[in-house]
Amino acid sequence: MRAVDIIQKKRDGLALNKEEIEWLIEGYVAGTVPDYQMSAFAMAVYFKGMTTEEISHMTMKMVQTGQQFDLSAIPGIKVDKHSTGGVGDKVTLVLVPLVASFGVPVAKMSGRGLGHTGGTIDKLESIKGFQIERTQEEFIQQVQEIGLSVIGQSDQLVKADKLLYALRDVTATVDTIPLIASSVMSKKIAAGADAILLDVTVGEGAFMKNIEDARRLARTMVDLGNAVGRKTIAVITDMSQPLGTSIGNRLEILEALDILKGQGRADVTEFICELAQIMLKLANVDQTIEAIHAHLSNGQALAKFEEMVVAQGGDLEELHRPVKVDQVLEVTADHDGVIAALPAMEFGLFAMRLGAGRAVKSDPLDYETGIVFDKKVGEHVKKGERIARIFMNEKNSQESVTEFKKNVKILERAESVKEIIEIIS
Ligand code: URA
Repeated sequence: MRAVDIIQKKRDGLALNKEEIEWLIEGYVAGTVPDYQMSAFAMAVYFKGMTTEEISHMTMKMVQTGQQFDLSAIPGIKVDKHSTGGVGDKVTLVLVPLVASFGVPVAKMSGRGLGHTGGTIDKLESIKGFQIERTQEEFIQQVQEIGLSVIGQSDQLVKADKLLYALRDVTATVDTIPLIASSVMSKKIAAGADAILLDVTVGEGAFMKNIEDARRLARTMVDLGNAVGRKTIAVITDMSQPLGTSIGNRLEILEALDILKGQGRADVTEFICELAQIMLKLANVDQTIEAIHAHLSNGQALAKFEEMVVAQGGDLEELHRPVKVDQVLEVTADHDGVIAALPAMEFGLFAMRLGAGRAVKSDPLDYETGIVFDKKVGEHVKKGERIARIFMNEKNSQESVTEFKKNVKILERAESVKEIIEIIS
């Protein structure tokens, strides 16, 4: 077989067979198919797509290119969760301990942020001492002992995705359904959970810009998971504006703590409780939203989170301290009205430039910086009222407020946005 023939076949819009796909992935991981051919292949997929069968062959071959976690030593149904990426997305930080507080074990591997999106692992690492590296044995032991663990994705997991994702990132081939579906599902299948909740984000700050594409991606991934015996449900969620009130690593930890104490914004709290209900259902545990909510207000979910922080070396006092920055700038409304748009991508990039995110993988992070919004889309503001605060460690204050304001749209009327748009099961 030759890579050029496979690329040409895909370029011409034909479906590849199992052997061709397996040969290509195997060769890429072995280094016999070079980056330049793999990037031509990724671009051909971008334009011509893949059939369900091709995506399934690609996913299962990718799973085999690394370690496959065996979580069978942990009793019960293990449920995993994955988001296709967002801005201000602190859902995992709350959802994992909330679900674990009902006795459902959660053994989760998470990733780092890049560009406008944040990553759970970076947020956890902003807690002094928190260790995100664990051997498979330590990871399993912690879940057996306290019911939850969130660690960084093992280097040994789906080597094909590690290589291919980095290549896609620099060849403008990330945002295509077959490659996102195979990337996400190969990792979820290899990570070993029995059931999977997928959060497929849609909107300006997500890879999927419209609901039809989000539905297609969700359906593709749900079918892939179910076909290999992993009960899979997807929720399509809004990413037209940042999630919740904060963007930034420690700022998001603090918001997650507020939600865990039952003191978070009502809409985000409701949203996370709904996701928790689905995750619990995947583990055959039926709970009402009220019962789930109660685990926030009575401290049970927070206690689970703190248990995990301690088990992974984190400092509990440091966990609750406010952020330390050189300055906090206030952004106020220029006129009365309703917030009509807070584009997630723009604010994700704004936070990235403050140091909260990475433009390239090797960039260091400033854990303390970021944004806290007082107002979200659909909410009224009066002239001079505060819309947001910018937490920063640099001096270009005026420039920052002006730049920030360019992205805040205030109109006479605007609708609020619902977090969960659709559930695909
Ligand atoms: N998240 C992933 O893990 N992979 C993708 O391709 C896109 C988002």
